[in-house]
Amino acid sequence: KTELRLGIVGLGTVGANVAQLIERKAELLAERVGRGIRVTAISARDRDRRRGFDTDGMAWFDDAVDLAQNGEIDAFVELIGGSDGIARDAVEAALDRGIPVVTANKALLAHHGVALAKRAAQNGTEILFEAAVAGGIPAIKTMREALSANEVNRVYGILNGTCNYILTRMEKEGIGFDACLKDAQALGYAEADPTFDIGGFDAAHKLAILTSLAFGSEISLESIFIEGISKITIDDIAAATELGYRIKLLAVALKTDSGIEQRVHPAMIPARSALAQVDGVTNAVAVDSDLLGSILLAGPGAGGAATASAVLSDIMDVAGGFVPPTLGLPPSRLQPYLRARM
Ligand code: NDP
Ligand code: HSE
Repeated sequence: KTELRLGIVGLGTVGANVAQLIERKAELLAERVGRGIRVTAISARDRDRRRGFDTDGMAWFDDAVDLAQNGEIDAFVELIGGSDGIARDAVEAALDRGIPVVTANKALLAHHGVALAKRAAQNGTEILFEAAVAGGIPAIKTMREALSANEVNRVYGILNGTCNYILTRMEKEGIGFDACLKDAQALGYAEADPTFDIGGFDAAHKLAILTSLAFGSEISLESIFIEGISKITIDDIAAATELGYRIKLLAVALKTDSGIEQRVHPAMIPARSALAQVDGVTNAVAVDSDLLGSILLAGPGAGGAATASAVLSDIMDVAGGFVPPTLGLPPSRLQPYLRARM
């Protein structure tokens, strides 16, 4: 097989990590997918910024849409962010060319995911988005693949690393909200506009995507009740602790008699529960379903390396699929990727 040529637009926290890892793990990736993966085209705002990987042999594009339309690429990776504007235009351009798209952009998917998935199908291609929900946790692949025979009753969890990091440090170190938010930004956890994090909107975007996959429903962002954490004080947290609870920003979607209820809000969780132990940038996704009862997935929910891990898993699916060797058998290729129900 010939190598997979990638175009990456957006080379910030996530994009730079993806490019660095493709460089650093080139041999391992090639061995696992049976072909080389090479970044051949890149775009960001600042052409001169050093980003920790070798750009020799990569074509630079000032315009991400131009890259999507004209880059010599087999797959397109969107890591700019934002529900509209350049990210959306570039993703649509790549899909219209029949090129598979990998994105971590939950805002884009929550607003336009159904239309983009249809556009991909019309053009005989795919849009993959493992990194869009709960960072490095394999929430999308679990929902699409491992739970595919289940009927889901409820999906819920901690879906924003920035908020959980802030709440944890406020509780454990007594540090004020603003200082914690600044640290979360410096660590690369927060959105470009952190209002999306602390206002609960980022968790709502992720919940909208999870709900659609869990219940096979259209994405419905408008129907989500959203309350963020900006009003939570250290005193609130201390009062909760005294009563045996911890405060977490919860995202919940559940089946009710009148339809699917979706909400994002701070909640008091019993301190001994598994969810209450999820601290810092860690996220958790819990699913209640008919065959499995309850499962809980937890892991790094934001940050460059963790998110790049999820982006890379999608890139590897595009490159040919990967099933880890089991019981001495060599890696085998996945069946064509299960299509999202959204
Ligand atoms: P950053 O703000 O760190 O990076 C954004 C990148 O986009 C930068 O390289 C920037 O260029 C580039 N960019 C901005 N505008 C344009 C434009 N008009 N044309 C081309 N490039 C542009 O964001 P993140 O890496 O944190 O996030 C990227 C995406 O991943 C977002 O959708 C985010 O929601 C999602 N995500 C992020 C996670 C995280 O932990 N950070 C986790 C999961 C998902 P320049 O560098 O030159 O300024
Ligand atoms: N800003 C997001 C968060 C990034 O803090 O969870 C991961 O999606």
